[in-house]
Amino acid sequence: MKHFLNTQDWTRSELDALLADAARFKRSRIGDELKGKSVALVFFNPSLRTRTSFELGAFQLGGHAVVLQPGKDAWPIEFGIGARMDGDAEEHIIEVAKVLSRYVDLIGVRAFPKFVDWSVDRQDQVLRSFAAHATVPVINMETITHPCQELAHVMALQEHFGTTDLRGRKYVLTWTYHPKALNTAVANSALTIATRMGMDVTLLCPTPDYVLDQRYMDWAARNVAESGGSLQVSHDIAAAYAGADVVYAKSWGALPYFGQWEAEKPIRDRYRHFIVDEAKMALTNDGVFSHCLPLRRNVKATDGVMDSPRCIAIDEAENRLHVQKAVMSALISQ
Ligand code: CP
Repeated sequence: MKHFLNTQDWTRSELDALLADAARFKRSRIGDELKGKSVALVFFNPSLRTRTSFELGAFQLGGHAVVLQPGKDAWPIEFGIGARMDGDAEEHIIEVAKVLSRYVDLIGVRAFPKFVDWSVDRQDQVLRSFAAHATVPVINMETITHPCQELAHVMALQEHFGTTDLRGRKYVLTWTYHPKALNTAVANSALTIATRMGMDVTLLCPTPDYVLDQRYMDWAARNVAESGGSLQVSHDIAAAYAGADVVYAKSWGALPYFGQWEAEKPIRDRYRHFIVDEAKMALTNDGVFSHCLPLRRNVKATDGVMDSPRCIAIDEAENRLHVQKAVMSALISQ
């Protein structure tokens, strides 16, 4: 049984098939691929796009979605194997995953890091535990990666460039300022999928402390070797933007300061100028801009960039609906 935990677990031809299916769903929204089927959407963190698009996607294919928020409208869950459960958790993931598997045909999980100890968070324990104990396929709705966002992003780029072949495009993944230290998930994912698609990728960030976890740098290096693209890290804004076809922005916390965010704050405060603005976009090859959303306007990107016809963030957000229908359909029919 196949899960959808990371795109790196799926072959390139499987990902291409998902993207082709998503394009079909975009042309024709209503189907019966999930008729009589159900999906549990387990949210440990807030969402606008993911919740809406998964719920509506299931509905539009004849299925039904149940949203659960452990600790709010569902019991708090323990994930430690062998844990003596005398804290807040009322039930164990073993029972949760097995019981949900008796009711539903798919389980989606959103579980952000706890932001205390990266060596713990990088194990992706919540998602991995659901996958280990469920007897139905599990979908990553964003944990320490965001594979559904990856597919929606690629789909938007393919639509913009009018081709499924993105090889050779100059792609900049730029860190941006945000007042809080955020999850690296979308950055890990952007790096993974951009290299997978054979693009010439620059990871632009303020200092070496903002380089991503070695696991994702290694995935990117492997993807480059297989796809024929390239990967470089840059701290030079003008050089990175020069001639870019794609600018993708995200903010994230520096991993060496993980859990010590007060110590990181004065450092990140020095790099507010990483905001994506019209002057930087003017350096590109008439490049497109995108972001996973939510986005703080005039902090991460200016109004001028967001309202420009070169901004495809809304297309990318729409595509979440279509790619997730493709993922749900593929997992249901395996
Ligand atoms: N991009 C994304 O996952 O949006 P939400 O956090 O609103 O679901």
